[in-house]
Amino acid sequence: MRTEEPRPIRLKDYTPPAFAIDEVNLDIELDPKATKVHSRLSMRRMGDGPLRLDGEKLKLLEVRIDGEKLGANRYSVDGEHLTIFEVPEGDFTLETVTSCAPVENTALTGLYLSSDIYCTQCEAEGFRRITYYLDRPDVMSVFRTRIVADEKKVPVLLSNGNPVASGKLKGGKHFVEWHDPFRKPAYLFALVAGDLAHVEDKFTTMSGREVTLRIFVEKGNEDRCDYAMGALKRAMKWDEEAFGREYDLDIFMIVAVSAFNMGAMENKGLNVFNDKYILALPDTATDADYAAIEAIIAHEYFHNWTGNRITCRDWFQLCLKEGLTVFRDQEFTGDMRSRPVKRISDVRLLRAHQFPEDGGPLAHPVRPDSYIEINNFYTATVYEKGAELCRMIHTMVGPKRFRKGMDLYFERHDGEAATVENFLDALSDGAKIDLTQFKRWYSQSGTPEVLASGRYDAARKTYTLKMSQVCAPTPGQPMKEPYHIPVAVGLVGANGRDMKLQLDGEEKPGATTRVLHLTEREGTWRFRNVTEKPVPSLLRGFTAPVKLNAHLKERDLVFLMRHDSDSFNRWEAAQRYATGLLLSMVEARASGGTARKGTGFGEMIRDLLTAKKIDPDFVAQIIALPSEQTLAQMIGRDVDVDAIHGAREELRASIAAQTKDELLSAYERMKVDGPYRPEAEDAGRRALRNVCLSYLAVAPGKDGAALAAAQFREADNMTDSIAALTVLANIEGPERIAALDAFYKRWQKNHLVMDKWLAIQATSALPGTLDEVKRLTQHPAFTMKNPNKVRALITSFASMNQLHFHDAKGAGYAFVADKVLELDKLNPQVAARLTGAFRSWRQFGPKRRKLMVKELKRIAGTEGLSRDVYEIATKTLA
Ligand code: ARG
Ligand code: ZN
Repeated sequence: MRTEEPRPIRLKDYTPPAFAIDEVNLDIELDPKATKVHSRLSMRRMGDGPLRLDGEKLKLLEVRIDGEKLGANRYSVDGEHLTIFEVPEGDFTLETVTSCAPVENTALTGLYLSSDIYCTQCEAEGFRRITYYLDRPDVMSVFRTRIVADEKKVPVLLSNGNPVASGKLKGGKHFVEWHDPFRKPAYLFALVAGDLAHVEDKFTTMSGREVTLRIFVEKGNEDRCDYAMGALKRAMKWDEEAFGREYDLDIFMIVAVSAFNMGAMENKGLNVFNDKYILALPDTATDADYAAIEAIIAHEYFHNWTGNRITCRDWFQLCLKEGLTVFRDQEFTGDMRSRPVKRISDVRLLRAHQFPEDGGPLAHPVRPDSYIEINNFYTATVYEKGAELCRMIHTMVGPKRFRKGMDLYFERHDGEAATVENFLDALSDGAKIDLTQFKRWYSQSGTPEVLASGRYDAARKTYTLKMSQVCAPTPGQPMKEPYHIPVAVGLVGANGRDMKLQLDGEEKPGATTRVLHLTEREGTWRFRNVTEKPVPSLLRGFTAPVKLNAHLKERDLVFLMRHDSDSFNRWEAAQRYATGLLLSMVEARASGGTARKGTGFGEMIRDLLTAKKIDPDFVAQIIALPSEQTLAQMIGRDVDVDAIHGAREELRASIAAQTKDELLSAYERMKVDGPYRPEAEDAGRRALRNVCLSYLAVAPGKDGAALAAAQFREADNMTDSIAALTVLANIEGPERIAALDAFYKRWQKNHLVMDKWLAIQATSALPGTLDEVKRLTQHPAFTMKNPNKVRALITSFASMNQLHFHDAKGAGYAFVADKVLELDKLNPQVAARLTGAFRSWRQFGPKRRKLMVKELKRIAGTEGLSRDVYEIATKTLA
């Protein structure tokens, strides 16, 4: 056990900083084992309290105030702080000289080495591992950074802002000095240095300023940056048009590194990326990779205004920048690609990651009120649910008023460290909406459930819709106040067309989709002049992050999946239909009874595949079955992973048998001719073609496997290659081994492609997968020191291979727990994420519950555990 229990930090304890830092001057001499940092801070007292600076893993060499060296009796140092006992009343300069060891930094926070490239990750609290500082986002300052290194070994030296000086020094060294004119918190500081190559382009802003764009990569990767560069220019243009936001420095730089804890980081003028989200060529990157690159480039770029120009007062306000910036990048993707498909995949993601978080032991509000380790709060709730909250405001006020609200937010708070209240006040004043009740979304955790029922009165020609809301208790929150829930509603007539809607008290009928506001525990709406019994289409476009229960009959679902004018709800009806069927099959397997028969899904697939005008990408979405994890979530207790897997495979095979001819002909028709283009149109065709392939693989006869083998041999792009390999990796036999071998031989030098190779094997449903994963941990393509490798092999297994992670004897749990403990010594942040695989333990039957709890207790009870893993393990058990 830990000797000292880590103490939570609380929002209600916030106090403003006791000192301001007006200027920061850093002199950094790079060395793998001993990087020397000489810091000069121009400081000013703002309030009461001692001068206590944050600092971790630093060797303190010297402290000076106004040039005078302090004796050891005038300050104290421990593992986390440097406290200066007495400081001058007015302005003063605090100087420290410290040293740190990038080569020993496996946690990848602070200054570290990623394949011989020096790089930094300072969000949330990494700057304190570079030098002593007031490492909190409400301390904003102007940074001047001088970097010194060996000229031959480390020719490129980068930091935030503009380069202002450079030159040679004695002993083969050189320096570059950078100046960032914008005040910023330390978490946005970055330094990158090494033998890097770059590609360059230009962007002319809306006011006519020319900005230099540079993407830095390891040498040899220059030809893999084109797509990322194009995406950056599209994002810059879009932010001007959609939000009136212009870039503000003369240069914008991106660096791709291979060892990175998360996706990417928005450091001012110098974004640092996991190279997975930069590097792409058609033969190495899939359509999904291209889409992710475009979205993440945009996300980090958009942070320049929502995050950097306006930053967060404290880390409890994280959603202020993350939720809003995710909302912005979602809108960008919606404009660049198919809007309905984007909405569907975002809701899929929300349900797969955020709903389970909100319904489990780690549930927390979008703005949490306490944390032990802030890095554990970069969650689906803060990001994805946070984005949904912005989207709800957007839905309620419409695009024009939303823009007015945003304009006011930028006008009021540019240059400040703001709060959620500041944001909501600006939106409410600018968009003219009362958000008082809406604010509860930020402080109450849990997913509200909305119950809806409708009644048609033929004599009066009225349709009465009743809706009510409840939200189950979550940790620390037994009771909830009602939420303000916007519900977009349509009524569909027998001819499949939307009716014009006229609510009680309205003069004449109006729009066909209306946003109703459910603000009480219950509400009733009456529509007039409804000439026939409608089928209600509720929560169109998923206007609120809730679980809707509308008790629709199977035939209504079939009707909506064919006719709803709202694409999202068409998809939703299809998913509900398939889910209902699958759940009854799972139950039949458990009870030995017979399952409901439903051919509606197969019939819909047949119709869609033979229809003249279809959007292939949308069809690919609508015909895909819900995942095993989704089904487990729906069942919620005593989950039987074998029954779920079996039922899903059975339905897949029966649909394949039912529609084999249509699948085959669509497979042929969707073939994309000509050279690979990553754009949405072609990607959509490949998506549909590959969903057809995955059905055909289990269709009667062997043609599916043969088709996959042929596609694998002939593919000229990674999307088709991976789709085929995934099919083959799930069929026992020599073709499987041959394909995996061939893939390995071809791509072993490409670390990003090797991640795919690892993940495919980790997620296979075949028996023996766990042993194979164990073997792969010893493979040269794997290392625990690189987060992408850990995610590809271990996290894929733990969170995407439900069947084998939940092995009945507990071997999957024991393996993952071992890896958590091994990884915690190297990289606590990534280890804590992996621990999250155990969060759903209450969903399973008593045997599995016991086995999972045993492993969680073993983790929680381990000597020397990090704060990160400690918080996740103990909260999961609580
Ligand atoms: N702000 C980054 C983003 O755009 C995430 C970085 C978080 N990193 C961390 N170690 N907590 O989403
Ligand atoms: Zn972000």
